[in-house]
Amino acid sequence: MKSRKVTKAVFPVAGMGTRFLPATKSIPKEIMTLVDRPLIQYAIDEARAAGIKEFIFVTSRGKSALEDYFDHAPELENTLKRAGKTELLETLKSTNMDSGAIAYVRQNRPMGLGHAVWCARRLVGNEPFAVLLPDDVIASEKPCLQQMVEAYEETGGNMVAAMEVPPAKASSYGVLDIDEDMGSMVRAKGMVEKPKAEEAPSNLAVIGRYILSPKVMNNLNKMKQGAGGEIQLTDAIAEEIGSEGTGVYGFRFRGQRYDCGSKAGFLQATVAFGLSRPDLSEEFGLYLDDVVAQQKAAQ
Ligand code: UTP
Repeated sequence: MKSRKVTKAVFPVAGMGTRFLPATKSIPKEIMTLVDRPLIQYAIDEARAAGIKEFIFVTSRGKSALEDYFDHAPELENTLKRAGKTELLETLKSTNMDSGAIAYVRQNRPMGLGHAVWCARRLVGNEPFAVLLPDDVIASEKPCLQQMVEAYEETGGNMVAAMEVPPAKASSYGVLDIDEDMGSMVRAKGMVEKPKAEEAPSNLAVIGRYILSPKVMNNLNKMKQGAGGEIQLTDAIAEEIGSEGTGVYGFRFRGQRYDCGSKAGFLQATVAFGLSRPDLSEEFGLYLDDVVAQQKAAQ
């Protein structure tokens, strides 16, 4: 089956980021920096590599730094140009977004991820669309969303990025109930949001990359607030399972995912991305070796 091309992506960035307080009192979580680039830049680059042309941000109060980040910075660019710093100038230019490529909608109240995605319904229209959560940073040879778009072009339906987690961790994720396992892809017969360890239907957890049919927006339209007052994206996707729906597939992406919405995950990502940078790896690697040796000696 050939599917429609995915050219729109929704970035829900309206959350309060309470796990990073007090930093997030004035800095949006998505602007926090992994080595020298804000989290949002990693997500934008991944979306661009997957062929996304329209970038829709669902923001909230206090996120203006995020909007400014994508603007041109003429004074800075001129200063770098005069100083002959061409490499830095190129780095800076790669962060600019073309006029009209980026759109912002507001989520007035933090009513959950499902509600945030629903806020983008008019901009998405009647097309399949991607959703990227910038907290989930994925290191991989081929960007994760690109892997998914390629698989989606064959299957259609709805696709969620999935990874194996230990049973004790399943309660932090949406978990897939597997109907058929086809290797890199599984067909789901159910999805459960944050199940208890003993009730998890599999060890395949959903992480923050999705390709969704516009029907999911219709499902969100009808949805009531669940427990905790939030509207869950998982529930709206799960409605597409079964004979009436467009189908839901889990995609086992190739790569390493870091949960940069948590402090431990952010620190792990910082180490991994620091070590992968040619300009830093040697000095940083030696420093880490030293730290580990000192810790061992102290035990
Ligand atoms: P999180 O569950 O990480 O919530 O949201 P959060 O508010 O960002 O962070 P904590 O838990 O308080 O530390 C996952 C994604 O969903 C977005 C967030 O911005 C993040 O990208 N989100 C969440 C919204 O856009 N709106 C919401 O109402 C909730």
